[in-house]
Amino acid sequence: MQPVVLVTGASSGIGSALCKRLLREDAGVRLCLACRSMQKAAATKAVLLAAHPAAQVTLVRLDVSSLESVLRAAGEIQCRKAVHMLSTAEGLITQEDCITADGLQSVFETNLFGHFILIRQLEPLLCCLEKPSLLIWTSSSNARKSAFSLTDYQHSKGKEPYSSSKYASDLASVALNKHFNKQGLYSSVVCPGLVMTNLTYGILPSFFWKLLMPIMWIIRFFTKTYTLTPYNGAEAQVWLFKQKPESLDALMKYHSCTSPMGKNYVESRKVDVEEETAEIFYQKLLELEKYVLARLNAPLSPK
Ligand SMILES: NC(=O)c1ccc[n+]([C@@H]2O[C@H](COP(=O)([O-])OP(=O)(O)OC[C@H]3O[C@@H](n4cnc5c(N)ncnc54)[C@H](OP(=O)(O)O)[C@@H]3O)[C@@H](O)[C@H]2O)c1
Repeated sequence: MQPVVLVTGASSGIGSALCKRLLREDAGVRLCLACRSMQKAAATKAVLLAAHPAAQVTLVRLDVSSLESVLRAAGEIQCRKAVHMLSTAEGLITQEDCITADGLQSVFETNLFGHFILIRQLEPLLCCLEKPSLLIWTSSSNARKSAFSLTDYQHSKGKEPYSSSKYASDLASVALNKHFNKQGLYSSVVCPGLVMTNLTYGILPSFFWKLLMPIMWIIRFFTKTYTLTPYNGAEAQVWLFKQKPESLDALMKYHSCTSPMGKNYVESRKVDVEEETAEIFYQKLLELEKYVLARLNAPLSPK
């Protein structure tokens, strides 16, 4: 069976580049683009089909900051019978967090918890011993332990919601490996490096980044994580796609790197995570899941 890959945040930046690169690696791969805007998703699909007319690309509407949307999307994906790789490429980078309609911190829900619920709902598809599946969290080098607290894991009181949510995804990945490797689901975290996307244009206007570009090319001689383009930034995800999930180290973060001459490669570095903390956080996520799903009258995991 051809691999089925679900990519969230596929409508732009690294997610969109990942889809293009996966089709280049294997034109038979079946892609499912999970996006909140169907218009943008259709535009991405059109670009993919223009280069690979025979490609199998489906769309699903998914807003990870809405649990109702996550449950609906999970139901739709369940009907498609298989998922071999799930890559997250959503990112809300803001220092001014807010509360979603679900009553959760927006950055926490968008960058972590919406995906956690999606994964739990897709467990029957993702957990397959005969054909192990791979979950890839697009984390960041900005995932800082100092920004995260187990007593305020949604980061409602702090000033670094993005760093906290990315560290939370590193923790969740470690815990998911502990609980699901025996069932055929393997989780990894990647860092795409510094990439020019809508996310970075949200920090500084694009013209400013363009002005800085010559300096950044020079910095690349010293800093391999200045990957700069979404194509380069997706290197670690593409590399993972080619690995056997069972062969990956649960405690590593895979970094996309680009040499001064523009050659892409992947470097693995140990995550700054204690397994005990990961487990406590995982139990807290399960408690929160129980609470929010009960409120929505939804089952914990569809069988
Ligand atoms: N760019 C960097 O330098 C960098 C560095 C480290 C890590 N990262 C991580 O890389 C990932 C991809 O980011 P990017 O740089 O490619 O940014 P991007 O171009 O802004 O892409 C973000 C994607 O997430 C989608 N998205 C945002 N909120 C969503 C929601 N509530 N529900 C569904 N989709 C949502 C966006 O959809 P719309 O098109 O509808 O907005 C878009 O497709 C993120 O996890 C980010 O944290 C990026």
